[in-house]
Amino acid sequence: MNIAHENLQGALDRVFDGIHQAQATFIPQLTLREVGFVTNVSTGIATVSGLPGVGSEELLKFPGGLLGIAFNLDEDEIGVILLGDYQALHAGDEVERTGRVMDVAVGDGLLGRVIDPLGNPLDGKGMPSTGLRLPVERAAPPIMDRAPVTVPLQTGLKVIDALIPIGRGQRELILGDRQTGKTAIAIDAILNQREQNVLCIYCAIGQRASAVAKVVANLREKGAMDYTVVVVAEGNDAPGLVYITPYAATSIAEYFMEKGRDVLIVFDDLTQHARAYRELSLLLRRPPGREAFPGDIFYIHSRMLERATHLGQKRGNGSLTALPIIETEAQDISAYIPTNLISITDGQIYLSPTLFELGVLPAVDVGKSVSRVGGAAQRAAYRAVAGNIKLAYAQFEELEAFAKFGTRLDKSTRQSIDHGQRIRACLKQSESQPVSLLDQIAVLLALTAGLFDRVPLEKVNDAEQALRKAAAEISPDVAERLSSASELSDTDRKAILEIATRALASFQASPDDRSDAKAAA
Ligand SMILES: Nc1ncnc2c1ncn2[C@@H]1O[C@H](COP(=O)(O)OP(=O)(O)O)[C@@H](O)[C@H]1O
Ligand SMILES: [Mg+2]
Repeated sequence: MNIAHENLQGALDRVFDGIHQAQATFIPQLTLREVGFVTNVSTGIATVSGLPGVGSEELLKFPGGLLGIAFNLDEDEIGVILLGDYQALHAGDEVERTGRVMDVAVGDGLLGRVIDPLGNPLDGKGMPSTGLRLPVERAAPPIMDRAPVTVPLQTGLKVIDALIPIGRGQRELILGDRQTGKTAIAIDAILNQREQNVLCIYCAIGQRASAVAKVVANLREKGAMDYTVVVVAEGNDAPGLVYITPYAATSIAEYFMEKGRDVLIVFDDLTQHARAYRELSLLLRRPPGREAFPGDIFYIHSRMLERATHLGQKRGNGSLTALPIIETEAQDISAYIPTNLISITDGQIYLSPTLFELGVLPAVDVGKSVSRVGGAAQRAAYRAVAGNIKLAYAQFEELEAFAKFGTRLDKSTRQSIDHGQRIRACLKQSESQPVSLLDQIAVLLALTAGLFDRVPLEKVNDAEQALRKAAAEISPDVAERLSSASELSDTDRKAILEIATRALASFQASPDDRSDAKAAA
């Protein structure tokens, strides 16, 4: 009995000792929690009052975990853009400051994943494993940290790699009316990065869910998801979410770039982004400017695209190549947003609905397309032939218009048209079938050497396929020299042309049974 009593006493003493100790070390602390309340909710935005200390672009927390960004800071109220479903939000709800700006989780765990700009998975798998968080708005690297664009970004599309070459770290705009193959070009460029050691980010902005699902299925089927992150805000998401998507995607891309990797980012498309920003600005009563867009729309796009660059050696030599997409209306490339983007980027690829209807795919209008920096990065072997092809093609396009009127043409004009038609036929390419550098050079060399000129037009496609099959015979050391930076030597050129001549021999008509030659006579 006595023993039990002592045990109990001991136990009680220990418990009270613990409590006294905890009491002695406890220092009461006040934590400041600034709370305001919602005064008004409308499409995608809310006004909030009672948060006098809030900073510009600070993240605010609403009930149910809904986030918002403080956008307009007026004297007595704050305009907030909402980053999610706001149906349940009401006037009078509490709002809390977070003291931080909008950020996104980045990391290698994102590769292969489909996420929204807040980092939530959209592919039915668990939360992606990430370590670091980066703000979505970051300053572009300073000029001194940048290096010139010197390495090509092969898209696998003959017409682009040969005539409108893109370099790693370049910003090249893709623009055209709807349904002209803009997305197809960007996706082909991603598919072609498979063996090129380039990571890709596909940023879908304001598209239909079914369109995005189709792209993701295509990327997955072709094995491109292994090195790709897809960041999505759909058309029916809150406009605030659509607005921050390309910034979040750029931060994810920058994480890889800063680790020294080469990264390709596709913004599909910035027309939707501009519309979301216009909607938010008008609702926040910011003054509308041209085409009702807010005055700073140029600035928000340039600030974003300025983050795409080639970093110098001391920053790890990574690069971020950007392919923003813009949808034009009725082929009007001089509308406000297209002209803005044309002046921000280092060149543009214009897709023509007329060419698309004629079946010239990809429907790149070579005359209206340009690449202002990629030429310097293009492989030397291309440079030996590209100028020649571009000139011949431009001449052909002019003459073609004439020839339509059934004019009698002299022999040299006829020849230019024949040659141009074959260039056009050889540059055609179906979707999701990127062509390797070696195959491209073989085709382009054969074209400039006039080897296709005696192939009847309807057989050019087959002839080109045969030539590409034969390109496998090109010896490995020649192939090695073509894909390095060295110039195309005469012996290498001769070796390739010999293979091409052999491959095309069976397709060439003899001079007298050439049907179009007869027509010209
Ligand atoms: N090179 C091509 N060969 C065959 N079909 C193509 C090619 N490029 C695009 N298409 C088809 O054209 C349609 C429009 O392409 P898409 O890339 O969705 O256009 P956009 O993004 O300009 O609206 C799609 O059905 C696509 O499959
Ligand atoms: Mg598209």
